[in-house]
Amino acid sequence: AWKMDAFAEETIKTIREKIGGGKVLCALSGGVDSSVAAVLLSKAIGSQLTCVFVDHGLLRKNEGDEVENVFGLDGPYDLNFIRVNAQERFYEKLAGVMEPEKKRKIIGEEFIRVFEEEAQKIGAVDFLVQGTIYPDVVESGLGGESAVIKSHHNVGGLPDYVDFKEIIEPLRDLFKDEVRKVGLELGIPEQLVFRQPFPGPGLGIRIIGEVTAEKVKIVQDADAIYREEMDAAGMNRTVGQYFAALTNMRSVGVMGDERTYDYAIALRAVNTIDFMTAESAEVPWEVLQKVTSRIVNEVEHVNRVMYDLTGKPPGTIEFE
Ligand code: XMP
Repeated sequence: AWKMDAFAEETIKTIREKIGGGKVLCALSGGVDSSVAAVLLSKAIGSQLTCVFVDHGLLRKNEGDEVENVFGLDGPYDLNFIRVNAQERFYEKLAGVMEPEKKRKIIGEEFIRVFEEEAQKIGAVDFLVQGTIYPDVVESGLGGESAVIKSHHNVGGLPDYVDFKEIIEPLRDLFKDEVRKVGLELGIPEQLVFRQPFPGPGLGIRIIGEVTAEKVKIVQDADAIYREEMDAAGMNRTVGQYFAALTNMRSVGVMGDERTYDYAIALRAVNTIDFMTAESAEVPWEVLQKVTSRIVNEVEHVNRVMYDLTGKPPGTIEFE
């Protein structure tokens, strides 16, 4: 295993020599891999780097602002950060679309289109940065499930669309825990370094059926409550992945003297080693009760909360 302070120092040196005076473009998602890659690059070549962050309106609550606060022009890093607020574009494209794979395809293609437009404004670049890590390299070799997922939805799909000479992948030899160590080493905030895995299509696949701006807000608010309570219970790093999803089911409930007919939120928490199989995590009953009572009280249009006990297989981790 690498010693991570030595790794950062060495890598910064190598990158600097390789890039010389070249211009570099990076697609920053706010995930740990692309964040660490971007910061390494910025330490190496400063203002020769431009980072584009596409807010597709399918991020978790406040996530776009959190990413901007860390990486934006007022933050500690020199990234030439560009945030593209493309929410409306994505919602328009997704209107009326129910089918999971169709939604994925639309989100992936629109992402590339937005990124491409930004790249064109920047002009020809010499290098494109990718946050590829060692397991990605191995998986694409084996053609496993997540390789398929990544080739469709992660920045792995970009090179054909952007004019550049070479790809730089500074994290290619590292495992996830090593990437996190480098991130801490570089002073990236813990909440970003230990961020849970989050799918490229984001909340688009955590809203079963049609995605609308209203539904995005519902699932964002419910998920934020879930995460807040998991944090408070000290559970946030003990569970592999957890989130709220908006089922497309509405059911009858009662609120005060009135009948309601509103949505059901599903809570999911899984433990997994490789994301190919997973089991439902044991979240303490009192945490689930608190989350449930907060969600039905605080989130408009939700009157029911359910917990998913299904493993993978036969379920998947996400609902779509
Ligand atoms: P599933 O639902 O297939 O999820 O059991 C396994 C892991 O992959 C993530 N996932 C995705 N990641 N684009 C991504 O970048 C996708 O379309 C996608 N679908 C699922 C999921 O969050 C879990 O970590």
